[in-house]
Amino acid sequence: MKNSKLFLLTALAFCTLLPLQAQKFNKLAQTPPMGWNSWNKFACDVSEVLICETADAMVSSGMKDAGYEYVVIDDCWQVGRDSLGFILPDPKRFPSGIKALADYIHSKGLKFGIYSCAGDKTCGGRPAGRGHEYQDALMYAKWGVDYLKYDWCNTDKLNAEGSYTTMRDALHEAGRPIVFSLCEWGNNKPWLWAKEVGHLWRTTGDIYNCFDCINDHGTWKSWGVMQIIDKQDSLRQYAGPGHWNDPDMLEVGNGMPLNESRAHFSMWCMLTAPLVAGNDIRTMTPETQGVLANKEVIAIDQDSLGVQGFRHSVKDSVETWLKPLKNGQWALFMLNRSISAKTISLDWKTFTVTDSFSNRTLDTTGKEFYKLRDLWLNKITGDTRKPLKAIIPAHDVLCLRLFK
Ligand code: GLA
Repeated sequence: MKNSKLFLLTALAFCTLLPLQAQKFNKLAQTPPMGWNSWNKFACDVSEVLICETADAMVSSGMKDAGYEYVVIDDCWQVGRDSLGFILPDPKRFPSGIKALADYIHSKGLKFGIYSCAGDKTCGGRPAGRGHEYQDALMYAKWGVDYLKYDWCNTDKLNAEGSYTTMRDALHEAGRPIVFSLCEWGNNKPWLWAKEVGHLWRTTGDIYNCFDCINDHGTWKSWGVMQIIDKQDSLRQYAGPGHWNDPDMLEVGNGMPLNESRAHFSMWCMLTAPLVAGNDIRTMTPETQGVLANKEVIAIDQDSLGVQGFRHSVKDSVETWLKPLKNGQWALFMLNRSISAKTISLDWKTFTVTDSFSNRTLDTTGKEFYKLRDLWLNKITGDTRKPLKAIIPAHDVLCLRLFK
């Protein structure tokens, strides 16, 4: 008896002496993160006024109510380091300091995100994280940061998995749960290793504010909405609760016409992507607000099953995409990629699909039928007892939820 007590005590003492194993913060981002980021619209023109006004607009516009949560400052908030190496925000643009900004955002019931980079300098040439990981993580935790986007510029010969793991460990050590967003553009196939490192990882280079084109910068390219979609389909098996493929932030509200914005937004939801608005939400039109805050489409993205959708078929420039949802429901989206309207038809009586990844089958051939809810009209438009017929305008979508 005495011996076993002694053994237990020794074992306990030994366990408490062991260092806590470094890991990412689990339980975060169980559905794809939703928020706003400054980069797509404002690039380096960031300030505490912009960020505070954006937080205000997040609440007053109904975006918060629709699920948007993180307000993220991207590059250019930082200007240097002090004599001890601590990062310094731009004193002209952030005169109240980052802690005060975080406090303000938290006071609105929102969460606060910040940006840095694994290299010597950020993509915008500002001081970055290399060699300062633990120090920066400590500062972020002190400020009340909830989300860190970590870029990949100026990384020279660094190893991606190693660098991001160092930052993960630094965040963990600092002790504040922070969503870790890897922005490595897919160069080192993060989907193969980042599940244990971060909560989301960029799968491509930067988005370009265009529905169907590529912007060639010479040494690198940025990608239109269609081009990004084409790079996602083979990656779906790597995504799930707590670890998401990130096809980059939204361009909704930055100039694309309504139909293209609707298609872009819907497809990001089909892809179970993080929904990070990239427009000026302080001044957005009701049309843009109507796209970004469409709760029925957002619910497809945020479905707790967390399964990324897939391209089922392509016919005459119209793609049919499917995504299994909880409770045996499905999302079926049709995307018209052509520049003219298309008439589509679908005979449910011959339609059956098995998704081997999620082990789910959609079968509309039998007696049981599904009701069809149009997620942009926000009403039930029919069921699977009658063939589906519709006209989908150019660069637009038909979005249906199938439920019994
Ligand atoms: C990279 C990222 C962008 C943005 C800029 C900032 O290009 O991919 O999303 O963060 O850097 O400089």
